[in-house]
Amino acid sequence: MAGNKALGDAKSAKKDEFYTQLCDIEAELRHYTRFFRGKSVLCNCDDPYESNFFYYFASRFNDLGLKKLVATCYDGSPVAYTQLDLFDAPKPRRERRAYKIVITEVGDENGDGTVDIADVECLVRNRKNVLSLLDGNGDFRSPECVALLDEADVVVTNPPFSLFREYLSLLVQHKKKFLIIGPQNAIHYKEVFPLIRDNEMWLGYGFNNGNAFFSIPNGDSRDFADGVYDPATGLVKFRNCAWFTNLDTTKRHEEMILTRALAEGDYPKYDNFDAIDVANLDDIPKDYDGLMGVPDTFLTKYNPDQFEIIGIGSGYLAKQIGVGKNYRGRTDIAYTIDGKPRCPYSRIIIRRKR
Ligand SMILES: C[S@@+](CC[C@H](N)C(=O)[O-])C[C@H]1O[C@@H](n2cnc3c(N)ncnc32)[C@H](O)[C@@H]1O
Repeated sequence: MAGNKALGDAKSAKKDEFYTQLCDIEAELRHYTRFFRGKSVLCNCDDPYESNFFYYFASRFNDLGLKKLVATCYDGSPVAYTQLDLFDAPKPRRERRAYKIVITEVGDENGDGTVDIADVECLVRNRKNVLSLLDGNGDFRSPECVALLDEADVVVTNPPFSLFREYLSLLVQHKKKFLIIGPQNAIHYKEVFPLIRDNEMWLGYGFNNGNAFFSIPNGDSRDFADGVYDPATGLVKFRNCAWFTNLDTTKRHEEMILTRALAEGDYPKYDNFDAIDVANLDDIPKDYDGLMGVPDTFLTKYNPDQFEIIGIGSGYLAKQIGVGKNYRGRTDIAYTIDGKPRCPYSRIIIRRKR
């Protein structure tokens, strides 16, 4: 492979190397523990030696009442074998890096009177069938990984963002229950939004104040914008990540308390679509039965018993709900304020259910 191409490939592969912190996994997954009891969990973008998702499930295998835990590792990872290990058991030989760990029970393997991650290490070390090489490279799309997907009840991971559409499509195609991290703006993808609109997927609880911190590979030399990478913690901060799931949450059954009454003229009407613009969630009127455009943050509060999602206010998906051409000739909703036409930033079109 030519040097530049190899470097380019390695660089783009590195873009996907962000490791989820245990505290973020714990904070989100505590809301879903009932969905794991008696179930087979798959983490299919997770080197078990490096992934806190594997660590989370392996160290709570009995507490969560898991039936099975499977984690598969991707050989294409540019950092495989270069990072610190989360637990201390020998890995397969270096030249074959795609492997899987399958756990069906965790007992007091080391006889110390407690059952914890040290027992998982013993399992991996001593039981021949717990860690095994994959035939291929561990790509989640490969036939052997898809076969593992078919056997799983729930998939939980942070997949490569660069393949998010493909990853999610595979889960949906195989009718899987899932809880995954993805880019927040994926809600606008034409493959993703219909799932949200049709209540086949929703947002989870989310990161603390919307800030997601991930660790990056040791010695990573990527350039980050100012304020993204903190050398003191070794963490990068993203504000654009969300948890996506089709596991029910109590949050999505909480009613948004609406206090504002509609007053004529308070809310701009769109020029090219029959709906009002509501720029702040707190201003959603309690007495309006027509269509409203609201910011994307609505999805963090969305209760499908209270509201119906009709569509999205821009692009191809807007055309589907009849948004006409605006002053720029585009199918993006627009309104005119003080004689000047303009487009609001990203709107979801909703209607209150009576
Ligand atoms: C965002 S990182 C997250 C890693 C881990 N799941 C975590 O949360 O810490 C995505 C991982 O997917 C791996 N990956 C990239 N392409 C993949 C593919 N086609 N199949 C499986 N894994 C892949 C990357 O090597 C990377 O480790």
